[in-house]
Amino acid sequence: MPILGILNFLKLAEINNIAVFTSGGDAPGMNAAIRAVVRASIFYKKKIFGIYRGYEGMIDNDIVELDVRSVGNIIQRGGTILKSARSDEFRTKEGRKKAYENLTSKGIDALVAIGGDGTFTGLHSFYKEYQMPVICIPGTIDNDLSGTDYTIGYDTATNTVVDAVDKIRDTALSHNRLFFIEVMGRDSGYIAINSGIAGGATAIMIPEEEMSINDLIARLDKGGRSKKSSSLVIVAEGGKNGSAMEIADEVTKRFPYYDTKVTILGHLQRGGSPTYFDRVLASKMGVYAVEGLLGGKTDVMVGIKDNVTVFNDFDTVMAKNHEIAEDALRISKILSI
Ligand code: F6P
Repeated sequence: MPILGILNFLKLAEINNIAVFTSGGDAPGMNAAIRAVVRASIFYKKKIFGIYRGYEGMIDNDIVELDVRSVGNIIQRGGTILKSARSDEFRTKEGRKKAYENLTSKGIDALVAIGGDGTFTGLHSFYKEYQMPVICIPGTIDNDLSGTDYTIGYDTATNTVVDAVDKIRDTALSHNRLFFIEVMGRDSGYIAINSGIAGGATAIMIPEEEMSINDLIARLDKGGRSKKSSSLVIVAEGGKNGSAMEIADEVTKRFPYYDTKVTILGHLQRGGSPTYFDRVLASKMGVYAVEGLLGGKTDVMVGIKDNVTVFNDFDTVMAKNHEIAEDALRISKILSI
């Protein structure tokens, strides 16, 4: 057996009891990922535990052993059966110590986290202190993690937005109105840019390439002159021009003749049954995460880039934002004339 194979085999023998949890904002497809982690662990003859409420549950010892049937009938469900939380206590050394003691008291010797950058940050600190093998699966609607083309939940959330935009278009057209639709994404414009293209928006305002209010007005004016009867503007929540409400106010001040409405899509973007894409992505990532752990990977985030599985270290993921392709911006401008 080649040396790497022997090393991997030895590491494989070291892990016996894996625990999985979800943390941060829930995302559609998290359940499919939990299912994949549970079943892959059992497939490889490991015990698998579920931790409720992310790091909070780790600190409160809210941990149960799962079996193959614990994750039946969940692949199609939104949210997370393990529940989720953002934990301040885990940011402290004392909190992480409590978590470590609870985990080891149950014999848990490896962790799979499903969440975003905050989740990975917590996991990284924990790994540095206790050297327990850990791996992160990117689960967030924001698609804001470099190191993977897609995060679990992004596709479903974007489809939900497109569905809402189509519905808003019906009423916007009926009244010749200008709608500002605010979408989630934190500091990332991924949901905005792609739902904007798919929903035929007149303008898309994203943090990565801020359009000034003057540019926006020029674009709306151009549409008006070319007999556009209604307009939809998608506003990413993290933009520098402010919220959709603030932008709408500014536009109305300068152009009172616009009949302007604002819709904030909010948390409905986080719910719902995951798309086929998110279910498959989550299933693949769940299996890859377990195989990665058993093969000796630790303190990494699993990703899929150009259809190839990758394991990214913490610094690579945190070093830069997940950039939006120049082409997406270019296409959105060409098509919204
Ligand atoms: O990170 C996912 C996300 O839905 C962001 O898009 C949004 O800014 C944030 O979480 C909202 O968080 P909360 O549910 O805690 O209000």
